[in-house]
Amino acid sequence: MVKVKINTDKRKGKIDKNIYGHFSEHLGHCIYGGIWVGKDSKIPNTDGIRNDVIEALRKLQIPVLRWPGGCFADEYHWEDGIGPGENRPKMINTHWGGIVEDNSFGTHEFLRFCELIGTEPYICGNVGSGTVREMQQWVEYMTFDGVSPMTELRKRNGRSEPWKLKYFGVGNENWGCGGSMRPEYYADEFRRYSTYVRNFGDNTIFKIACGAGDFCTHWTDVMMREAARFMNGLSLHYYTIPTGSWTDKGSSTEFDETVWFDTLKNTLRMEELISKHSEVMDRYDPNKTVAMIVDEWGTWYNVEPGTNPGFLYQQNTVRDALVAGINLNIFNSHCDRVRMANIAQMVNVLQAIILTDGEKMLLTPTYHVFDMFKVHMEGELLETDYTAPEYAAPGKAAAVSASVAAEHDGSGHVLGSESIPALSISSSMDSAGKVHVTLCNLRPDSSMDISLDIVGIGNNGAGIASYCKATGSVLTGKTMNSHNTFDAPDTVKPVALKEMPIQDGKLEFKLEPMSVTVVTLE
Ligand code: AHR
Repeated sequence: MVKVKINTDKRKGKIDKNIYGHFSEHLGHCIYGGIWVGKDSKIPNTDGIRNDVIEALRKLQIPVLRWPGGCFADEYHWEDGIGPGENRPKMINTHWGGIVEDNSFGTHEFLRFCELIGTEPYICGNVGSGTVREMQQWVEYMTFDGVSPMTELRKRNGRSEPWKLKYFGVGNENWGCGGSMRPEYYADEFRRYSTYVRNFGDNTIFKIACGAGDFCTHWTDVMMREAARFMNGLSLHYYTIPTGSWTDKGSSTEFDETVWFDTLKNTLRMEELISKHSEVMDRYDPNKTVAMIVDEWGTWYNVEPGTNPGFLYQQNTVRDALVAGINLNIFNSHCDRVRMANIAQMVNVLQAIILTDGEKMLLTPTYHVFDMFKVHMEGELLETDYTAPEYAAPGKAAAVSASVAAEHDGSGHVLGSESIPALSISSSMDSAGKVHVTLCNLRPDSSMDISLDIVGIGNNGAGIASYCKATGSVLTGKTMNSHNTFDAPDTVKPVALKEMPIQDGKLEFKLEPMSVTVVTLE
């Protein structure tokens, strides 16, 4: 029996809804085919955007969406994507398959998409191959309401009112595909470019600087030292690769328990990664005014056999559901610093929440996890104490070692090389006083008994007796690699739990093997 104590009086900060953000790049069939089909398509659409995708995304209440890349952003010239479609120049998408990009999905189409799904746009500008002027004019084109050439151009293109734009990224991976820069050089470039990312009228821009990839704390250190006062957020990218090797990352569906274990072990490194970069940020910014923005995360496997290697199309199994749940729990537990995260990517690319094939569409296990976890958005993180049992590497006996147990509030996993914590949890209280608990059982072959103790007076001063019942849902599969296909789209989906009574602040229940569970106490 694993004892979990949730203290409703110990609030650890607000969970920014933007932690539940997404990312869409001009890559493979994310935009073209996945989101945009064009106004003349037989696939039902609104202004060229697929209706089935709009409907699915609206249900998730997606708070923020990053676009147009990724690596694509630092080769993108926004002026090519405005005006009549037939006049838009075509370009090569050099990073992703060398295919022709016809620019039919540009600024107006992206911002319309955001309106349709009810999300805040987060636009990433081009530092690697673009000019300061180009970036300055893009922001002016979108947000200025006065008299200027950019406003006139926007009006000629059919949009008289400016849009509201809050989030703007000044480059992407400028240490790599965004210009192979050293942090010292990029820090100065960031200062220069961001100077011209202006606030027009009451539109205030939250400026996000390119941050480190993986464990490069040197990049974070230089950026914080040289440019912290010019930025509102600093990004961080980390992908979960089962093998840890970029040359053979492993299959999305064909894997055994050793690979399952390695995948989860690698994804748990997000905890260590955030802690290490946070430590550096804290040295320069102890009050945590600069947000950590994990604007690319998720699984990265070998592409599906027979698909274009440049399109990064992969399936999504119960293993991806666990990866999503574990990462979201980690982000929640670091909500004092992590104030946005964007899973890569929304449709048909990497750890997608939606897959499409022509007019067919399916929701992946990862989609369902976002649906289950959305209850945490804007909630107050609650102190949650538990000692996670160990999950020993397959074939290895569990080491009896206190050092691998993690007593914590959803953070602080201690990773031994042979074992990982078998349980990941976070809990929050919403504005109505309901408590939401999300739990991941990492072991694929054994269930886990949970004994939940709810202490504290609660939100409404009515005492713990005010929590009298628990409801929720669980997502698991018959096998580790269970997934949804276009022929069987509901193979993996959440199932409602039977309502459970809470007596004297205590609740007992069982977690299924390899499962993600959400429980609401009210
Ligand atoms: O998400 C795919 C790619 O991964 C992005 O374009 C890039 O920023 C990262 O390397």
